[in-house]
Amino acid sequence: MLEGVLVDLVPYGKAFLENERRWYNSEVYFWGTAGDRAVFTRAQVERWQAERAEGAERRASTSVWFGILTKDGKPLGDIALDEMLPHHRVALIGEMIGEPEYWGGGYGTDALLLIVEYAFDWLDLRKLWLSTMGINARMQRAALKVGFREEARRRWFWYADGVWTDDVMFGLLRDEWPGRDALVERLGLRAREEV
Ligand SMILES: CC(C)(COP(=O)(O)OP(=O)(O)OC[C@H]1O[C@@H](n2cnc3c(N)ncnc32)[C@H](O)[C@@H]1OP(=O)(O)O)[C@@H](O)C(=O)NCCC(=O)NCCS
Repeated sequence: MLEGVLVDLVPYGKAFLENERRWYNSEVYFWGTAGDRAVFTRAQVERWQAERAEGAERRASTSVWFGILTKDGKPLGDIALDEMLPHHRVALIGEMIGEPEYWGGGYGTDALLLIVEYAFDWLDLRKLWLSTMGINARMQRAALKVGFREEARRRWFWYADGVWTDDVMFGLLRDEWPGRDALVERLGLRAREEV
């Protein structure tokens, strides 16, 4: 378990899987997938979960997947390192908070700080990147707060609710990362009971 200020990162187990159908059949999916809207039946979600479980071993060398859990034990969503390339020591970060009433409350930033620290200090990765829709202000703001820089912008890449939006790619080098403690301090992240 990786212990943060507002959240902990824990294995992505049953408590998270049980929420997936609700998370994916909501506004969350639009933002999490870059513009898709879909309706998933219970059977579809269960099939998808079974397929993922089958492929887990194969993916173990290229991805690490955590559940985001609040300090009082509520499963909020997921955060993962994907497409890890050991030779280059780079990885892609994907993040999703499935409960919209928690958006904008610092939870996503806290989770991002934890996974970046894990990637640099435990996995010895050198560079992390992520990509998001130009209209996804929350993801961009959270990335910037954690020290990512905008590195590329692919114009009119995603089609979201009938409108073209850019794909914005962010990168963070280990050499420029001041460390999680410094950022927690700089951002003034405080546990809820201390606010
Ligand atoms: C993106 C996401 C992980 C960010 O986590 P979060 O907990 O919402 O983010 P935080 O509260 O830590 O930071 C968000 C920042 O964006 C700011 N922000 C900018 N535009 C905003 C908006 N329209 N609404 C809310 N916050 C906004 C917030 O004020 C906050 O910055 P601040 O702390 O300087 O005020 C989360 O919102 C989420 O999961 N969204 C749905 C799925 C998704 O978009 N995933 C990313 C796919 S690439």
